[in-house]
Amino acid sequence: MEAAKHDEIIAASAVHHNRLAVFYDRLHPELWNKEELSRIERLVANSVKSLPATAPARSLDLGAGTGFATEALLEWGFAVDAVDVSVFMLKRLKKKFAREVASGRVRVHLDDADTFLRTVDLKYSLIIASVVMNHLPDPRATFDLMTRRLIAGGSIIIFHEPSSAASSHLKRILQLIDRFLARLFIVPWNQMEIFQSSSLKFCDNDSKHGAIFSEAEVREAARESGLTIHGFERYSTAFSAPVRRALEWLSGPTTWSMVLRKPR
Ligand SMILES: C[S@@+](CC[C@H](N)C(=O)[O-])C[C@H]1O[C@@H](n2cnc3c(N)ncnc32)[C@H](O)[C@@H]1O
Repeated sequence: MEAAKHDEIIAASAVHHNRLAVFYDRLHPELWNKEELSRIERLVANSVKSLPATAPARSLDLGAGTGFATEALLEWGFAVDAVDVSVFMLKRLKKKFAREVASGRVRVHLDDADTFLRTVDLKYSLIIASVVMNHLPDPRATFDLMTRRLIAGGSIIIFHEPSSAASSHLKRILQLIDRFLARLFIVPWNQMEIFQSSSLKFCDNDSKHGAIFSEAEVREAARESGLTIHGFERYSTAFSAPVRRALEWLSGPTTWSMVLRKPR
């Protein structure tokens, strides 16, 4: 991808997520729904059990946002480098983890994933990209950079990516209802434009600048980098519980997560 387009996508992401930051936590069920929270817990547990005894308690939350994965990583005893391009998302993260930021256990980096991964000279035991790969200009290139920053025996968790499974009419209708409900209760009418804005369209792979990083592409990338897959879940997520149930029972999964491990 040419550098100008790469930078434009990152800039669009910063604009979009800066605007979204104030509503972000309330809009995303994975941050407060018990069932969803247990999923990240399972993924981190799966990753931690395979770490060598000498593994550093150092982790990377890529596209950290307001700190959803940072929180799980702290609970498991990790220090966290939290990287994001949105200053307002990071402002919220810093407020949530003020004590850990002050002590240096959480280090906050206003940077894009690729630049950070190219310049940092550390290796991590665990790297999480939660709802992030679909926003990246070149997810495969970022994935390769992530693998280089991983210790032997360490894991990458790719969490909550949009499913490339065929979308049925029913699924689309249910998702539209769900989005409508979420936004109706949380986002004032005069701010609804956020979801139509050109910055969102530009930074969201799903709808704009190419194919999403599908399950199949991640598997292929893992195989080429010598990583093995230790956890793969397909599931549905939704703001409202009845819609989540309906999605689970009546239509295909909306999203997926995967744990990828580097051999020791
Ligand atoms: C959907 S949010 C997910 C936030 C958090 N990981 C979570 O699970 O709640 C995507 C985040 O990725 C950040 N982001 C998008 N593109 C990025 C890039 N190229 N480098 C670093 N962060 C990026 C956005 O600013 C936003 O905070």
